[in-house]
Amino acid sequence: MTRTRPAPVVAPERPADKIRWSRKDLLGLQELSRGEIELLLDSTDSFKEVSARDVKKVPALQGKTIANLFFESSTRTRSSFELAAKRLSADTVNLDGSTSSTEKGESLTDSARAIEAMQIDTVVVRHQASGAANLLARVLDAGVVNAGDGVHEHPTQGLLDIYTIRERRPIEGLRVCLIGDILHSRVARSNIWGLTKLGASVTVCGPPTLIPAGIEELGVAVSYDLDAVIGDQDVLNILRIQFERQHGGYFPSIHEYAVEYGITVERLAAADPDVLVLHPMPMHRGVEIAADVADGPHSLILDQVTNGVAVRMAVLFHTCVAR
Ligand code: CP
Repeated sequence: MTRTRPAPVVAPERPADKIRWSRKDLLGLQELSRGEIELLLDSTDSFKEVSARDVKKVPALQGKTIANLFFESSTRTRSSFELAAKRLSADTVNLDGSTSSTEKGESLTDSARAIEAMQIDTVVVRHQASGAANLLARVLDAGVVNAGDGVHEHPTQGLLDIYTIRERRPIEGLRVCLIGDILHSRVARSNIWGLTKLGASVTVCGPPTLIPAGIEELGVAVSYDLDAVIGDQDVLNILRIQFERQHGGYFPSIHEYAVEYGITVERLAAADPDVLVLHPMPMHRGVEIAADVADGPHSLILDQVTNGVAVRMAVLFHTCVAR
């Protein structure tokens, strides 16, 4: 069964070259205009070129200090924000939530204010609570960049996904399917906001229990039947099953989930021969994605990781300079 989509929420905008970035924070793609998203994507091109040089460093943020506050585990986002800051010549300080004073009962805002008192320019925060980045943006003069907050948004992941697709296909009119655990996915939300603003046609597909009620209001189509929609897609963005956020049985078993929604080579045979496959990682091989798809010719998964550094350079540059 497929639920239909209301009219897309895309407004005509000034071209990106006429847009100036004026935000000290990046909290989500929901609040960005199409022009602001395009500005970040266009800037990413030049920052990607820096990472391809022998000397991967430019003085763009020399003298600035960026704090990475990670209260939730991360491999890619944390290391790529740190690399991005270093490639822009900023100083960095890293705070691990599990070894910070929040473990002794200190509040998030007191921790962040203490870090800010050391003359920090921008705070990058990942937190298990939706809204944590918005809270810090309200109480800090420093810029705040959301590195993933609960089930709300993961804007730099959304940007790097869109950038990776845009390197190969124009986004306007592209058919993109987000597959799996939409309910618990901040990556899905950022993809939906970003892709629909840029004119893509987005479908979300997964078990009914993992699709939020009313998500059509965001301008997406809904399907519970992957085999019915896979042939109509240009891009498959496969989401991780967020076992750590699931309290209760959202599907009968992992095996049954894999049978219904796992992307295998056999299932991919029904897709467009040029279909692009993305996954934000970490991934459960053999559950939402088969190993030979993850490592196969359609996969852009490692390109996503590479592009993550350049996207985060663009975000840190614009938010730091806007302060
Ligand atoms: N995609 C992503 O956010 O990965 P990490 O959890 O490793 O940062």
